[in-house]
Amino acid sequence: QAYTVVLPAAGQGKRMGAGHNKQFLLIDGVPLLIHTLRVFEGDSLCTSIILAVNEKETEEIQSLLKEYSIKKVTAVVIGGRERQQSVFEGLKAADDGIVLIHDAARPFITATIIHELVEETKRSGAAIVAVPLKDTIKLVSEDTIEKTEDRTKLWAAQTPQAFWLSDIMAAHQVAEDKGYEGTDDASILEYSGGKVKIVKGNYENFKVTTPEDLIFAEAMVASRRRGERR
Ligand code: CTP
Ligand code: MG
Repeated sequence: QAYTVVLPAAGQGKRMGAGHNKQFLLIDGVPLLIHTLRVFEGDSLCTSIILAVNEKETEEIQSLLKEYSIKKVTAVVIGGRERQQSVFEGLKAADDGIVLIHDAARPFITATIIHELVEETKRSGAAIVAVPLKDTIKLVSEDTIEKTEDRTKLWAAQTPQAFWLSDIMAAHQVAEDKGYEGTDDASILEYSGGKVKIVKGNYENFKVTTPEDLIFAEAMVASRRRGERR
């Protein structure tokens, strides 16, 4: 089953504090964004890649695509103020069928998990990659615990998140019209009453977000190179 992937890369990288978009930071000498692109470039089921980028970074990204011979990018669209708007712009450039939405800042996703997600989406209509929480979660107000959540039912949502294009487009339109803001795409579909399945992923697929994540990222690349994981 072929799919299109939308990669939102139009953030500011504020929590990284690098002074510019974290997508350009080097991991093992290669820009973060390129690591993520290479996964989809190398997956034969991926027929096209759509990138959402900051307008002022368009040229820099186009030249990186050339430099690293990334061939599957069929559209580079201008992102919006929030991730949700960047994704919606990307979806407007997608072809019918199954569409994956994946944070450009998650370079360690594997083809194996992508394929499990695509299979689940074919079966159920919508699915996301998620992992069980490792920590106990506290609901806190004014530095005091109000409640301890039941960890056995809590999962951390990752990406990719996969949908049929027409379903997720319709849901994004509803969210935009009603002013609903969600932090992932599953929540956009949930808001319209859609059912979304979970595919268990792994902890390697973390989002490069804060400075110490760069240390983990370098270690991950080194570990995979030694053949310890794939
Ligand atoms: N993103 C986007 N458009 C936005 C905001 C975020 O395309 N308006 C993208 C980011 O580039 C990233 C992904 O969504 O690939 C996940 O967002 P996040 O990790 O929060 O990245 P940033 O928003 O760049 O980082 P921060 O929140 O620390 O500023
Ligand atoms: Mg952000």
